[in-house]
Amino acid sequence: MRLDGPVPPPTITIESHLASDWAEGAMREDIASAFAMRPRVLPPKWLYDDRGSALFDEITRLPEYYPTEAERSILSQRAAELAHFTGADSVVELGSGTSDKTRTLLDAFWEAGKLKRFVPFDVSEATLINAAEMLADRYRGLEVHAIVGDFTRHLNQIPSDGSRLVAFLGGTIGNLYQEERQAFLGAMADTLVSGEWLLLGVDLVKEVPRIIDAYFDSSGVTEKFIKNALVVLNRELEGNIPVDQFDYVPYWDPRQERVDMRLRALTAIQARLERLDLNVVLEANEEIHVEISTKFRPESLSAELSDAGFELDRFYTDDRNDFGLFLARRM
Ligand code: AVJ
Repeated sequence: MRLDGPVPPPTITIESHLASDWAEGAMREDIASAFAMRPRVLPPKWLYDDRGSALFDEITRLPEYYPTEAERSILSQRAAELAHFTGADSVVELGSGTSDKTRTLLDAFWEAGKLKRFVPFDVSEATLINAAEMLADRYRGLEVHAIVGDFTRHLNQIPSDGSRLVAFLGGTIGNLYQEERQAFLGAMADTLVSGEWLLLGVDLVKEVPRIIDAYFDSSGVTEKFIKNALVVLNRELEGNIPVDQFDYVPYWDPRQERVDMRLRALTAIQARLERLDLNVVLEANEEIHVEISTKFRPESLSAELSDAGFELDRFYTDDRNDFGLFLARRM
């Protein structure tokens, strides 16, 4: 505890920018347009229902899945340095705010003595409620201002007083397609003012077999996770897509340097998504694109950051050069 005498009560606010029916409405629109495309490209955010989140958690503990541990090791080595170097008094975390990497980061900023506010930003209100309470309890006197929102739409809701560091960790930016990534960095640049910080955790380009192994694990958890996309559709949209009639096929795309995770129909499929009043007709061998995971090179990410209006200040990696933590400053 860094304060003498009585400790101020925690202040927690949870601000929701998503209407209660948002998930359902947005999902219907998303999926209707995904199935109108050729090829069919599903938005990966629908993978993370309760089962999907639990499966992803399992992925992070697989021996083949190196990114989580690599990022954790960088953060625990560098968090104190980041806190002192940036001097930020407000830390924003995009994505889940319950994980231990959040704690590693906040512990360091708290110890450095300037931290006033933490802003966890997530689409899931339940995740944020848990996180906010745990955090306000651990850091007595910290202001926790949780935002339920979509980072493609609500970045401007982040409180703007103080000097901010926005953390976007775990390699999640790798899920965005090139144009989406560019739009995200542009929106981030519009949100931040000169001198504020963006901390990005990204997976790096490395020997292809190790990357493929991380997304094609021997215990089949990743396959379950990707197939969960169809399980979610069947449940939420009253569908009857035969999940067991698909193969999980991860590809390495050498040009885009990304893993492309797809489901391939083993036979011709005729199914229904009742709530969309939609017939799903697939030929044998037709593929549904479920998720991408882009891997980065420091030079090209640095160029993308500077195109968006950021300057790369620090680049940290782990012993094996597996993962990168990029600290950029808004110019
Ligand atoms: C949560 C997006 C970082 O791309 O490595 C892991 C998701 N998908 N295995 C990743 C994922 C299949 C993961 N991210």
